[in-house]
Amino acid sequence: MDELEIQLDEHDYTDLLRADARAGLSATPKWLPPKWFYDARGSELFEQITRLPEYYPTRAERQILAARAGEVAATTSARTLVELGSGSSEKTRLLLDALRDAGTLATFVPLDVSDTALAEAAGAIAGDYPGLRVRGVVGDFTRHLKLLPADGARLVAFLGGTIGNLLPADRARFLSELRDSLEPGEWLLLGAGLVTDPDVLVPAYDDAAGVTAEFNRNVLHVLNRELGADFDASAFDHVAVWDEEQEWIEMRLRAGRAMTVHLPALDLTVEFAAGEELRTEVSAKFRRESLTRELAGAGFDVRRFWTDPDARYSLTLASSR
Ligand code: AVJ
Repeated sequence: MDELEIQLDEHDYTDLLRADARAGLSATPKWLPPKWFYDARGSELFEQITRLPEYYPTRAERQILAARAGEVAATTSARTLVELGSGSSEKTRLLLDALRDAGTLATFVPLDVSDTALAEAAGAIAGDYPGLRVRGVVGDFTRHLKLLPADGARLVAFLGGTIGNLLPADRARFLSELRDSLEPGEWLLLGAGLVTDPDVLVPAYDDAAGVTAEFNRNVLHVLNRELGADFDASAFDHVAVWDEEQEWIEMRLRAGRAMTVHLPALDLTVEFAAGEELRTEVSAKFRRESLTRELAGAGFDVRRFWTDPDARYSLTLASSR
């Protein structure tokens, strides 16, 4: 890899974590933002989730990308592929291959909060794509869009359904900021889960092997390590519920007994009642109409919309106005 740009250093990371932990653990009901799942162990657990029989989004997205990457490349003629929340960047290779074959690709810019996942993925891709300029950015896609390298022909891929982790107001703000950071005619490729049968949705977030439960509890290990907290993670049960009204999956951690947790780095003590739930993730599912409307509201025109054969997952290609 050429460069790793650190927009989010260890100091910012801990400051942000402290602010989020203080706000979320002092609120009623308690919550924590999902970005803190992804330390090295959390990123590895997420990779395991993507291989679970119940977790269809990754396979559905890969299937659409495999069928449509050539069309994406031909439509966008992108020189730079930016990937937000890139994680392992495994499916991204389908896009890189198509853009390389189309002869337009020059630069790959993966951005992720996890420095370990980013360094590993960016290094592997730099090794496998000779001549490709790889500029990794350690950053937060809700804060560091302004700093993305610009060359006038960018395709920003935001895959995996991560858009669903943002609450509606945050999502609108994020999409507008993204549009503002792009030139007219630059592109967004958005992967988003669709509303489907709860009997399919819920097991995807509550697998039989318990990997998602471990992933969920991992946020407590992150707080223990980074903030000196004393959560007994094993005393929390994993909960996944489909909120039919909001059309999102909510993951929670339910206290198995009453607990007092100390967070010395925050000078904070938090009480949990037996059965009390801490919300750790919202994973919204979408409909074609609402996605198109939200994108249009942010200044993006939808040019293509594809789903997997079961219509559980979507890819939208939109151009910035
Ligand atoms: C990577 C955020 C898209 O919401 O489906 C997987 C994370 N959470 N299982 C998702 C996740 C529980 C995933 N995203």
